[in-house]
Amino acid sequence: MKFAIRTALLAGLMMPMMGAAVSADDADPNDVIKYRQGIMEVVGGHTGAFFAILQGKVPHQDALAYHAQALADAATHALAAFEQNTAGQGSEEHTAKDEIWSEWEDFAKKMKDFETASAALAEAAASGDMAQIGPAAGPLGGSCKACHDDFRTK
Ligand code: HEC
Repeated sequence: MKFAIRTALLAGLMMPMMGAAVSADDADPNDVIKYRQGIMEVVGGHTGAFFAILQGKVPHQDALAYHAQALADAATHALAAFEQNTAGQGSEEHTAKDEIWSEWEDFAKKMKDFETASAALAEAAASGDMAQIGPAAGPLGGSCKACHDDFRTK
């Protein structure tokens, strides 16, 4: 009982320190834009690193599976990062088209394709078998392009 009360008190003290958690759809649009760009930069960073190793531009073969897995992990959070509709809102520069929210099903499908491709790449990379890794890399690159072509302004 005592423990429960103390826990409740502690939680009461901690909440303001952490900042009240905003719920979905009412976060500041600029924060939403920066957050989703952060996720995409992680995606871009690991993809770039993965291909630089795969193409032999840099060594670090031992990091290949790491980059593929980190990419696959980030992919599972990408769709949620776009859930809040920021069309016409915020002052942050961005390249997200308004169609993301008017054609959400198509956008979500393309994100799902990316998630599937990155999961397959992570599995292939974990095997360390180059005969599997190469063929899994193509669909991944294609999944980025399919979405960027339709849903980015550049
Ligand atoms: C389903 C759609 C979709 C998929 C799949 C997707 N992206 Fe994106 N990406 C976007 C959108 C939309 C933006 C623009 C976000 C913004 O400016 O708010 C973006 C932005 C980016 C950015 C720029 C981030 C910034 O700071 O402005 C990079 C880099 C990027 N994506 C890389 C990738 C790579 C690499 C892949 C594939 C491995 C990928 N994306 C897959 C939709 C997608």
